[in-house]
Amino acid sequence: MILTTGSAGFIGSNFVLDWFAVSDEPLVNLDKLTYAGNLENLASLQDNPNHIFVKGDIGDAALIRQLLQQHRPRAVVNFAAESHVDRSIHGPEDFIQTNIVGTFHLLEAVRDYCSGLPEQEKAAFRFLHVSTDEVYGSLGKDDPAFRETNRYEPNSPYSASKAASDHLVRAYHHTYGLPVLTTNCSNNYGPYHFPEKLIPLCIQNALGGKPLPIYGDGQQIRDWLFVKDHCSAIRRVLEAGQLGEVYNVGGWNEKANLDVVYTLCDILDELSPRADGQSYKTQITFVTDRPGHDRRYAIDATKLERELGWKPAETFETGIRKTVRWYLDNQEWASNVTSGAYREWVGKQYGA
Ligand code: NAD
Ligand code: TYD
Repeated sequence: MILTTGSAGFIGSNFVLDWFAVSDEPLVNLDKLTYAGNLENLASLQDNPNHIFVKGDIGDAALIRQLLQQHRPRAVVNFAAESHVDRSIHGPEDFIQTNIVGTFHLLEAVRDYCSGLPEQEKAAFRFLHVSTDEVYGSLGKDDPAFRETNRYEPNSPYSASKAASDHLVRAYHHTYGLPVLTTNCSNNYGPYHFPEKLIPLCIQNALGGKPLPIYGDGQQIRDWLFVKDHCSAIRRVLEAGQLGEVYNVGGWNEKANLDVVYTLCDILDELSPRADGQSYKTQITFVTDRPGHDRRYAIDATKLERELGWKPAETFETGIRKTVRWYLDNQEWASNVTSGAYREWVGKQYGA
């Protein structure tokens, strides 16, 4: 069996759902259920005895030790993190606590567990740390895409905390021989994406007749990957990645934010036109830029493609259409996760 953390959130829950679509290997799912974790994402697994959900914190070393001893997983996949850049600007402390201190406690518990394993199990054990391209900082317009050898130059409290966790993971391999793997992925989108991030926020705001907030000039570039392709990359790295190695994950889909929002509006105009016949584009509103806003991210995924034969299944065009369709079909999910706490956040971030 494997143990995953933070897997009631966006990427983790997609990973768990996909795991059980292709495997019947049991999985222990540890999640603190912050605002970003939603058991509703996993509702379809309610009667699956191979899915064991545990509410808890990766920083709770005693709990992690107990879970490892009880279930004896062959791998740990660490998704758990505070993940939203804007929230990290308003309040970095939770990011330091979970992403750095939490990862440290998790690593300590896993190191302890791993050192007690019989040789054969130890040789097969893996700790896979899920990280982000944001650790590499911001690219200029003509710079080559991030490779695994790029310097770390994190610019936000979020990316700095993820960078710190990546360094800890690396150090636990070099110092203690912990069998680690790290993935650094570009921006994900898809089902169960919490509507605080650009794509789900704009879909929800469009449907709710609200402004679509574009920071600054909207020409910042992100490299988008459909979440299920990220999940297949993680499965592939877990299966065949070389110990201690880092793999960049991305789908070669660089887009300016404004173009992403135009695309969303075009698809919504087609699938769910406004009653007044106007385009959703009329709701686009330029707002104050994010402080320290990174201009461009781009991932060079050549290593993962060449060495492990991974390829994304979706293009941006197919993935984004599936995503809009999913939100249209799952409005109840979206309204359930946007609770009072969510409304408070929106008030703080965007004002009235
Ligand atoms: P998310 O915010 O949607 O989910 C995070 C999950 O972690 C939530 O379920 C939350 O309850 C849980 N969590 C938070 N603190 C915890 C703690 N202390 N202990 C246990 N669980 C805790 O994030 P996501 O977008 O699904 O991202 C998952 C991972 O992938 C993160 O490590 C993130 O840095 C990384 N990543 C995200 C993207 C992206 O575009 N979203 C891209 C690359 C990498
Ligand atoms: P986001 O989804 O927060 O991901 P990240 O900051 O981790 O890349 O933002 C994606 C891009 O969209 C980023 O350049 C910031 C921008 N953005 C807006 O223009 N308006 C918004 O309301 C949000 C949430 C993001």
